[in-house]
Amino acid sequence: MAVLRLFIGLPLPEEYQQGLTALRRELQGGLRSALSWTREGNWHLTLKFLGETEDAALPPLVESLAGVVWQGFTLQAGGAGFFPPPHPKRPWQPRVLWTGLQQGAGESMALARAVEEALVPLGIPREERPFRPHLTVARIKHAHGGDDWQAMLRRLQAWAWSPCRMERFVLWQSRLGPGGPVYAPLREFAAGAES
Ligand code: 2AM
Repeated sequence: MAVLRLFIGLPLPEEYQQGLTALRRELQGGLRSALSWTREGNWHLTLKFLGETEDAALPPLVESLAGVVWQGFTLQAGGAGFFPPPHPKRPWQPRVLWTGLQQGAGESMALARAVEEALVPLGIPREERPFRPHLTVARIKHAHGGDDWQAMLRRLQAWAWSPCRMERFVLWQSRLGPGGPVYAPLREFAAGAES
């Protein structure tokens, strides 16, 4: 029996994929920290991470996801932050640099909740941590003390992203490799008609 590493998310349009590359070019100049940037083509909003899943579980998983009723919505990236956020009293190690949503945060949260609830009957537990809709720009492998993280946030916050329509979510398989993860779409789930 094969085991697949799975997650569910919203794919971002080509304009966002190219914007990410342009953003990376602008942000990485002069940085001394080691960052692993999200690769063009891979950028998405994660709705639910499933992790290692036996392939026998795929048919009921797909059936449950097909039963999620949702309406398409407009998403627009905006704002920026780090996980974890800086702490005033403790030494801080940024791990993830992300951009947030200036449009579509509520809808993404509602969709993530609907996906999660659809999977509970299959024995897939709810997340303990609250869902924070975000688009991962880079993971910070090693933070160099000399880098100005606030300046980086300001540049990311100033980036202009266009609004885009979300009309499908995707069940992806993630294969981890030396060049970073490779994502293969297994199934797509379309939004219902606008009411
Ligand atoms: P992200 O949305 O913050 O980038 C595929 O690995 C996706 O699932 C990634 O985009 C990742 O985070 C998300 N994810 C959530 N929890 C994860 C975990 N425990 N391990 C790996 N990826 C996880």
